[in-house]
Amino acid sequence: MPYAHITGWGMSVPESVLTNDDISKIVDTNDAWIRERTGIRERRIARDNQFPSTLAVEASTKALKVANLKPTDIDLIICSTSTPEYLFPATACIVQDQLGATKAGAFDLLAACTGFIYAINMAAQSIQSGSIKNALVIGTETLSRFVDWSDRSTCILFGDGAGAFVLQASEQPGGVLSAVMHSDGSGGDLLTLQAGGSKYPASDETLRTGMHYIRMDGREVFRFATRVMAQATREVLEDAKLTIDDIAWVIPHQANLRIIEAAARGLKLPMERFIVNLERYGNTSTASIPLATVEAVEKGQLKAGDKIVFVGFGAGLTWGALAAEWTGPMETEPIVYPQRYRLLGRLRSLINRLIRFVEGIIWGRGA
Ligand code: COA
Repeated sequence: MPYAHITGWGMSVPESVLTNDDISKIVDTNDAWIRERTGIRERRIARDNQFPSTLAVEASTKALKVANLKPTDIDLIICSTSTPEYLFPATACIVQDQLGATKAGAFDLLAACTGFIYAINMAAQSIQSGSIKNALVIGTETLSRFVDWSDRSTCILFGDGAGAFVLQASEQPGGVLSAVMHSDGSGGDLLTLQAGGSKYPASDETLRTGMHYIRMDGREVFRFATRVMAQATREVLEDAKLTIDDIAWVIPHQANLRIIEAAARGLKLPMERFIVNLERYGNTSTASIPLATVEAVEKGQLKAGDKIVFVGFGAGLTWGALAAEWTGPMETEPIVYPQRYRLLGRLRSLINRLIRFVEGIIWGRGA
């Protein structure tokens, strides 16, 4: 059975920074309250012309470059997102087109903030079963578009960004070691974004009542999160036949510093063993774990051979954890990775659209 190694990584965040002081000019809050209750100082906000796909393509291009792969080497793209570009087509297909990943299947996965863990697990299982060799796993969000900027209990929390991993098959032991995925739909009403789906299609009523915004019972979500983080970590370690002492880093979903501190207490681990960067990005949902991972690699904290646990929770309710041995890029002949792959991808997309347009005219005339 092949192993599924994480061999590429990349991230992209919008340039625009929104600080706690900036938010205190919009709603009745202040920097001290937000920092004390959440640990967040600032978050990134997408420009009007930045979408989940825009950030995802930037992060994926970097990840492919690190993995030394061409877009056409990718067999499968899984895009986990809580804020997809549309209901359909899938954001993964927009990314597939823009990258020029012409041999890849592509789909979106919705498991809210646990989505990236679910997605790595799905990609790893496809690799381990032998059905594919190379997968691109993305977490991408523009949550700022769904935030009610008059609700001080939610607008302080969320931010925009994207991260991507490349997973590759290898006979060398390592990579993804085990994973656990959980859900409890009875808590679905604790964190919702209701309008725009089939039950509440967009209407004057949904607009008037703000149903197209994120709604949350913060205290209940907090209680749930503090309960499941340590539990899922212990479970995934047991499955991988590891102990907490084998783990170099826990990389948690970056929602609230107090939730991560509670997990640390539950696991009897010092906070120094947790990768935390939420003070600069807030909660970026599916992007938070890859953003924290990429920064840890770039700072030299996370190194090849380190055993790590990703752990997260989110709307659904969903939660899960994944244990892995960090690999780093595989040793392959370096390919020149020019910008031209993206340009070629765009050109191919344009030609496909043009052909479809011309065919439409021909068929239209024939009818
Ligand atoms: N600034 C100032 N005061 C605020 C505030 C803000 N931004 N937001 C809420 N408050 C007030 C409340 O109105 C409340 O006032 P009251 O006592 O007069 O009614 C008081 O602070 C305490 O509210 P509470 O909701 O108990 O605060 P909290 O300590 O639970 O913190 C959250 C609120 C949202 C930060 C916290 O519940 C949380 O992080 N929950 C988890 C959310 C999460 O992670 N969601 C994403 C899951 S993926």
